[in-house]
Amino acid sequence: MFNAEIYQQRRSQLKSKVKSGIILLMGNEQVGMNFLHNGYTFRQDSSFLYYVGIDLPHLGVIIDIDNDTETLFGDDLTIDDIIWTGPQASMKDWAGKTAISEVKKYKAIISILQSAYHGGRTIHFLPPYRDEHTLKLHEWLGMPPQVCADKASVELIKTIVSMRSYKQPEEIEEMEKAVDISAEMHELFMKSVRPGKTELEVAGLVEGLALSSGGQLAYPAILTASGETLHIHARNVVLESGQMALCDIGAETAMHYAGDLTRTAPVNGKFTDLQKDMYNMILAIQLAAIDACKPGTLYKDIHALSGEMLLEGLKSFGIIKGDVKEALAADAHTLFFQCGLGHMIGLDVHDMENLGEQYVGYTQQMKKQTNFGWKSLRLGRALEPGFTITVEPGIYFIPTLIDIWKSKNKLANFINYSELEKFKTFGGIRIEDEVLITEKGNRILGNKMPPKTVAEMEAIQQQ
Ligand code: GLY
Ligand code: MN
Ligand code: MN
Repeated sequence: MFNAEIYQQRRSQLKSKVKSGIILLMGNEQVGMNFLHNGYTFRQDSSFLYYVGIDLPHLGVIIDIDNDTETLFGDDLTIDDIIWTGPQASMKDWAGKTAISEVKKYKAIISILQSAYHGGRTIHFLPPYRDEHTLKLHEWLGMPPQVCADKASVELIKTIVSMRSYKQPEEIEEMEKAVDISAEMHELFMKSVRPGKTELEVAGLVEGLALSSGGQLAYPAILTASGETLHIHARNVVLESGQMALCDIGAETAMHYAGDLTRTAPVNGKFTDLQKDMYNMILAIQLAAIDACKPGTLYKDIHALSGEMLLEGLKSFGIIKGDVKEALAADAHTLFFQCGLGHMIGLDVHDMENLGEQYVGYTQQMKKQTNFGWKSLRLGRALEPGFTITVEPGIYFIPTLIDIWKSKNKLANFINYSELEKFKTFGGIRIEDEVLITEKGNRILGNKMPPKTVAEMEAIQQQ
């Protein structure tokens, strides 16, 4: 945990911005994998971590703004618990670590909330993303489960986004740690990937570093020869010479700040000429996109810049023809770049995504688009100092998508389908780093960037 004052200050800012009513922060529960006592690794809710910091299941916090009280709800371990799990600090001690003075048993939350709710007071809560939250809201407030998300407090969502988007110095330090561990994982990936190994063999080895560093994976590992599939997970598939392997892996620290990096490396340690040319095109786009990240610039404009550079680059491969700006306006780039250029990152790999992408990545004036390609851009708004984001351009030759577009002769004035046919089995490339927006521009996070140029990657692979 950070110092208690940090959580206290965050809560006091939260109170002064939300102004009135009751704020309910729900911690997460332990979830059983196949039965309760054989559970998934516990993961606390990120907003609960941000405002309270206690990384334990079965907790709740009520911040009563009108009466200026803060209460932690949770239960001390009984001897029946202690014989299985060992002793633990008391709830009173935990409350002290986050500067909350009042502690009550967990079940006391029910009557307090019910009388406040039925007394007509406003209860601010966040949209539930786990069934356990929905059930609690149903039980505590008598709300039908299907309306809980709609009844979430927009005021609370907006306030939390307005705070968590701007990373504090101690958070940036944690994020650097997450990137450093993730960078080590990528070095291990490059040293381990070999023809004859399966995706799972390499992924399992690399994932171990996240655990041995004291944290865990920030998201399920993507390590694959099928890099064209955006979020495919490692499979029991043998890697072959001549293929590229895309590795999108990140660790989260013990304090749950996420790393999210991607490298795409040749399985046998040497890119083919075509792979090298394609890789260098994506690298040039990534460097230009990072360079463009500065306060005031719309991230969606940087996404468009990447799309334009991609189309320009694909002209030299004979895949694109005609005017590149017109091709971009017609969304021709979405045949090759179906996702967004990046996203906010912090306590969540896609930071605050559970609060709603419109609130996190867009503004009142700028609505998130719904058309193919653009709908997957999670961040469109103007960048500001303190934002931490990913920059992850890529190229993805998805055979099924190409076949669909080709069968409709879609944008045939810009796309040379007969040439494209030759690239249908090329796969995919993504390069991803994390960037902090500063007053003057940006800084790539991490103390040691994993190899990124063709020469750097081939050198480490052939060691
Ligand atoms: N690792 C998932 C992503 O890059 O968004
Ligand atoms: Mn990412
Ligand atoms: Mn990623």
